[in-house]
Amino acid sequence: MNTSTGINILGIETSCDETSAAVVRAPGEILSNEISSSLKFHKKYGGVIPEIASRMQLEVICQVVDYALRKAKVRRQDIDLISVTSGPGLLGSLAVGISFAKALSLALDIPLLGVNHLHSHIFANFLTSANQRKQKIKSINFLDPRKLFPFVALVVSGGHTTLAYLQDIDKIEIIGSTLDDACGEAFDKVAKILGLGYPGGPLIERLAKRGNPNKIKFNCSNTKKSLDFSFSGIKTAVLYSVKDKVLALDEKRDIAASFQEAVIDTLIKKSLLACRLNKTDQLFIGGGVVANSRLREKFRVQMLKEKIKLSFPAIGLCTDNAAMVSVLGYWLFKKGYRDNLDLSVNLN
Ligand code: KG4
Ligand code: ZN
Repeated sequence: MNTSTGINILGIETSCDETSAAVVRAPGEILSNEISSSLKFHKKYGGVIPEIASRMQLEVICQVVDYALRKAKVRRQDIDLISVTSGPGLLGSLAVGISFAKALSLALDIPLLGVNHLHSHIFANFLTSANQRKQKIKSINFLDPRKLFPFVALVVSGGHTTLAYLQDIDKIEIIGSTLDDACGEAFDKVAKILGLGYPGGPLIERLAKRGNPNKIKFNCSNTKKSLDFSFSGIKTAVLYSVKDKVLALDEKRDIAASFQEAVIDTLIKKSLLACRLNKTDQLFIGGGVVANSRLREKFRVQMLKEKIKLSFPAIGLCTDNAAMVSVLGYWLFKKGYRDNLDLSVNLN
């Protein structure tokens, strides 16, 4: 370990359409966090095409990692750990990141660790951005998750809607998940129904800004287990509300706002219940949907009212990025976790 300059963790994330590499100085200072997306090649298909994603990742991964190291001003020999997303995600895409990480680990004799994508979204909360550094915010205590356990976490992304109870870095219990569509997926599908582009989340958010969230009463379906989620019913309700109609812009705005509001209210209600059932007053949220500003504001207001301490990552750290992979890798490595060259894709 390179203790004179601090511990440098190289993170690699290729679980979906992005190729991302980051250097984080332990415990959570982001030195670089580079993201190359193949999104423009998928847009015309209305979703990510796995073949295209992995092919692009193979092409750009060397450059992205090189650029992340140069930007961080860290030499290859000064990397102390390589942390890579090992799943869940797209098989071919994950294989590109894992193979690259293994090759680098072997060539430079650097420890290697594969981490869970869902968990890394939670650990994005333990990063400090360059901006915070500039403002000299010293939140080192806050950056140490070990001082905060136990807590509840909510991950809402394109692939997951999950409530988890964390008692330690490696003690993460799933206490609720979606029975059908993931939350981000529901945003993407509703955007498609409304004739918007892909990914739908940011487009729904923009359209909803000038809509009336109380205009239409949409509801997320009830679930047998109170902490589970279901979004396919609300998606179908949106589909019926637009069926055989030519919508004016104002009507589209109201539908987008009403849908978004119902989803956010459900996420808040279930997160609060999870905190109550697990007797904790701390909630950490993450994942692409947490980039939604209406969600951030409503969670902030509601959790303040309920006296729940809420944390969410900076907007740019909610969607997929490698800095969150670095920080989770660091904490697991500190606990003694290591992988060898047998590391493989873990789709669960
Ligand atoms: O975490 P993420 O980048 O990738 C996955 O792990 O899936 O999340 C992507 C998802 C997409 O479904 C996208 O539509 C959604 O997050 N998303 C949003 C917003 N930004 C991204 N959903 C709602 N509002 C947003 N502003
Ligand atoms: Zn993700």
